[in-house]
Amino acid sequence: MHAAWDASTNEMHLHNGRISYLARVLEDGSFGHLYFGPTLRPGVSYAHLSRRPFLGFSNRLGDSVAREYPTGGSGDFRVPALAIEPADGSPVLHLAYRGNRVLAGKPGLRGLPTTYVEEDGEATTVEVLLVDEPSSVEVRLSYTVFEAYPVIARSAVIRNGGSAPVRVRCAMSAALDLPDAAWDLVTLDGTWSRERHVASRSLAPGRQSVGSLRGASSHEHNPFVVLKRPATTEEHGEAYGFGLVYSGNFRAEVEVDPFATARLRIGIEPDGFAWTLAPGEELVTPEAILVYAAEGLGELSDSTHRLFRRRLTRGRWRDRARPVLLNSWEGVYFDFTDDALVEMAAASRDLGVELFVLDDGWFGERDDDTSSLGDWVVDRRKLPGGLAPVARRVRELGLDFGLWIEPEMVSPRSRLFAEHPEWALGVPGRPRTESRHQLVLDLARPEVVDHLFGMLHEVLASAPISYVKWDMNRSLTEPFSASLPPDRQGELFHRHILGAYDLWRRLTDAFPDVLFESCASGGGRFDPGMLAFAPQTWTSDNTDAIERLAIQWGTSLAYPPSSMGAHVSAVPNHQVGRITSLATRAAVAFFGVFGYELDPRHLTEVERAAIRDQVAFYTAHREVLQYGRFHRLRSPFEGDRNTAAWMSIAEDARRAVVGWYRILNRADPGPERLRLRGLDPARRYRVTPWPAIGDRLELVNALVRGGDDLMHVGLFFEADRHEAPALGDFHARVFALDVEEDGPGA
Ligand code: DGJ
Repeated sequence: MHAAWDASTNEMHLHNGRISYLARVLEDGSFGHLYFGPTLRPGVSYAHLSRRPFLGFSNRLGDSVAREYPTGGSGDFRVPALAIEPADGSPVLHLAYRGNRVLAGKPGLRGLPTTYVEEDGEATTVEVLLVDEPSSVEVRLSYTVFEAYPVIARSAVIRNGGSAPVRVRCAMSAALDLPDAAWDLVTLDGTWSRERHVASRSLAPGRQSVGSLRGASSHEHNPFVVLKRPATTEEHGEAYGFGLVYSGNFRAEVEVDPFATARLRIGIEPDGFAWTLAPGEELVTPEAILVYAAEGLGELSDSTHRLFRRRLTRGRWRDRARPVLLNSWEGVYFDFTDDALVEMAAASRDLGVELFVLDDGWFGERDDDTSSLGDWVVDRRKLPGGLAPVARRVRELGLDFGLWIEPEMVSPRSRLFAEHPEWALGVPGRPRTESRHQLVLDLARPEVVDHLFGMLHEVLASAPISYVKWDMNRSLTEPFSASLPPDRQGELFHRHILGAYDLWRRLTDAFPDVLFESCASGGGRFDPGMLAFAPQTWTSDNTDAIERLAIQWGTSLAYPPSSMGAHVSAVPNHQVGRITSLATRAAVAFFGVFGYELDPRHLTEVERAAIRDQVAFYTAHREVLQYGRFHRLRSPFEGDRNTAAWMSIAEDARRAVVGWYRILNRADPGPERLRLRGLDPARRYRVTPWPAIGDRLELVNALVRGGDDLMHVGLFFEADRHEAPALGDFHARVFALDVEEDGPGA
């Protein structure tokens, strides 16, 4: 057991040798927070950490008290975790401790994705019951400590134990009171095609937050934020990570009070949220993940990657080598025939590609994005025999076949909309806002989810489909469901995402062998909630190698390479018009789940040979690239922002792959070194540069060197004034490292 409740002191201590999380019942009966950080010795009391502030000479009330699930109305004026309108309309809540339960393992959360354990011994969970007597509102806080990860998983279930309805206005998944505010808040922000760029700011007095009101976690902000000490780097210093296993509206917020304490809260976005609980009903909040790292952002990401990869992602594809795919989208968009697809698949097979994916445009009468979403029947004009013959022909070539769908949407120009206009979200009497000529289906209606499940089940069962790309291409507007009464419209966003999860669960359960990739106009829903259903996500619609450096770097703060779809596309790039070499495009895309997004029929023989070499390199190293430990070496967001580098290394440190990228070239750039990480200092590694071009940069690095040498000195990047022009802009180098079995020190 890694958690204990000491009945004599009413203290809770969760620990696993790396972290401790401590809380205790305070003198006023509330549940106070004591500590979250490096592990503290179990079996002793830490009650002295809940020092009562002196309140005598000011109008300060309970505002500096650290609480586990703070509420307002009685002197704590910071942001609350819970706000309720009880039957009497009063905003006051005093949650008093009533009891606890310590369990081996980790229970799930009804209707919501969560991290999990495979054996009860992997984690211990403590449930703590708090009650507000006058309103009979009950809160069940759940804390799980994992044996193998420096992580606490938290959630809260709110129950109406009274006899009249109550309305929940804000129900966060977790709050954490930190004793000082000397932290930088790091967030992952952007927009379409520029997702998850790293932004960092020092905490300042007042509130600072990111969140989403779009009905999806969004391109704009990500439900994973970090608090790091200002001096924390990749390799040194403290950091906390906070993630929400949720794909809908969220808020992650920190409030700094005048006494420089910091309160973080994370959960469903309270703006616009209102959930009515009838007597006896419960509201289950999503799971929050709290991670602590003592040694830098690298350690923080490593812990999060491992947890997300091993105990959030699930299903048969969790640990399997992911196939190299070719997706039809940027190659042919909506314009194809069955024969063209088979020709593309044949050309892909010739390159070594393993999976051919038919993207948008195969259903209804969809020649562009103005029609047919919702009509999940094959367009016989393009595929006269249906999906099955195309899929079979692709499989006969030796490739697997994959398909794109966008279940949550409907085109106004579709049969589905003509038959069921009320199934689209919208406010009666007001126009519905279209985006990409489409509307959002009302997944708060169980009949819509049932209908979609039936239709899509038929499609997926109709042909040998082994991969599904599940897209979602717009934000929610006019968030109103005609199926809900006026006083329950505040439930729409959450009900909608619960409906989406229900559909995900039913389809992934029905097709357990299918590899699902989630997508939302690229990375508009790249979040822990989606990872629980789909082990990989299309990282961004932006396939430009240089733009991808920033996107993949930022994404890696929270998410492992095995979750990041990364493809080589044609040049000039379709999003930014940039021309980069095929080698540079691959050198970036290698550090994710690799594939292509182009028409393979239009490649030159030289390009075909280069791609064959890329696929061979990737498949030979994919275990390391997909499942290795990822180290960020040089940030595209720091320094002169002109170079970036990262590496993936096998768990046993016997193999590694390093990527180095220079954006703009310089005349006579001078020598530079790149120190590696995670190698075994006592072993020797053969360094093999890729691709083999035989220049000096290659030759100076193609050596057998000690792990110590490579970590303390590093790889060499140097070119004199005569060599530099040959490198050009957007230059990338990849290095494969393999332990030399027979070398000295091996
Ligand atoms: C948006 C996705 O991100 C793209 O990859 C592609 O699938 C299009 N939708 C298709 O409409």
